[in-house]
Amino acid sequence: MNIVVTGGAGFIGGNFVYYELEKHPEDKIICFDALTYAGNMETLDEAMKNPQFVFVKGDIANRDDVDKLFNEHKPDIVVNFAAESHVDRSIENPGIFLQTNVLGTQVLMDACRKYGIKRYHQVSTDEVYGDLPLDRPDMFFTEETPLHTSSPYSASKASADLLVMAYHRTYQLPVTISRCSNNYGPFHFPEKLIPLMIINALHDKKLPVYGEGINVRDWLYVKDHCSAIDLIIRNGKVGEVYNIGGHNERQNIQVVKTILKELNKPESLIEHVTDRKGHDRRYAIDPTKIHNELGWLPATKFDDGIKATIKWYLDNEDWWQRIVSGEYQSYYEKMYSNR
Ligand code: NAD
Ligand code: DAU
Repeated sequence: MNIVVTGGAGFIGGNFVYYELEKHPEDKIICFDALTYAGNMETLDEAMKNPQFVFVKGDIANRDDVDKLFNEHKPDIVVNFAAESHVDRSIENPGIFLQTNVLGTQVLMDACRKYGIKRYHQVSTDEVYGDLPLDRPDMFFTEETPLHTSSPYSASKASADLLVMAYHRTYQLPVTISRCSNNYGPFHFPEKLIPLMIINALHDKKLPVYGEGINVRDWLYVKDHCSAIDLIIRNGKVGEVYNIGGHNERQNIQVVKTILKELNKPESLIEHVTDRKGHDRRYAIDPTKIHNELGWLPATKFDDGIKATIKWYLDNEDWWQRIVSGEYQSYYEKMYSNR
């Protein structure tokens, strides 16, 4: 099969490219990516050596780019990871989130209709459900939880999900949607909590924890997200939504302290800074459906995954040094100085 992976030069898409090349060597993987600030060809260095892998530079919101992609590569499956993905950036500049995450999804699905496709898979997020109270550990997001978004990022992802279901109902496009909790692992862009804290700690820089640090995220090792999507695109039921998560809830402050402990750095590096606007309190996924219907279970415990992730950042300094020494520096200054 020909599988187009949009956003494959980013964090999760890059991990998915490697997962598919290893698990299904018979399939051809075509990565389609605009190489925004978050896309990195170095993530794909090893994949580029594989004859089953092709890289195409292009924008999912550009009809000419997408038409050319479909004409040349005739995909059987499209897995759409391409997105603007950082909540803090969406608070600063919502426009590009609507352009890429909503209109880009529409352009891709229009091409799927025009050229025909076996499956269009939308990689969505648990953030479309909004947040849960901190004092109700019995509450979880199920696929029936109403959409109720907080940030321009989550609103753009929820809008895309609605459009995907509309294309299924109206045009019978064979779609699936997955909504996953927070990922961590190799190739994670350093603007996000875990890599940012690892890299700051390695430089003995302050670790900026928003507010009291009591917000809760439900962490999943990225490879487990990839294995879930792989099952959904091959065995999932058309028109269905699948939640993905591994019951790994942690307060942000706990995560940060774990990283400091692993790196043998002092907790005095922690600095509480002004909270994120509209900060979601708690995310927690109920993964019963994907477990019961597709037999999916996560393979990596948080304690092992965080150690493996820290080791990856220690072993791959070249990868992140080039990022943090570039335009990321001015982003960091803008977001964190005087916060
Ligand atoms: P990322 O920001 O690391 O990577 C995004 C990739 O998309 C980059 O390679 C970028 O160049 C590319 N891209 C951006 N705009 C594009 C465009 N217009 N056309 C083509 N390519 C474009 O993101 P990520 O963290 O890997 O997230 C991937 C997907 O998974 C997103 O859809 C996100 O909403 C979703 N998701 C992320 C998480 C998480 O914890 N990171 C959890 C659940 C769902
Ligand atoms: O839940 C899935 C979502 O997880 C994905 O849809 C998003 O694409 C992904 O970016 C992620 O969103 P979060 O906002 O949860 O991730 P982030 O790493 O930005 O922040 C995690 C938590 O840590 C959040 O409560 C904010 C906090 N934080 C973050 C940063 C960057 C800090 O305290 N300090 C920081 O410097």
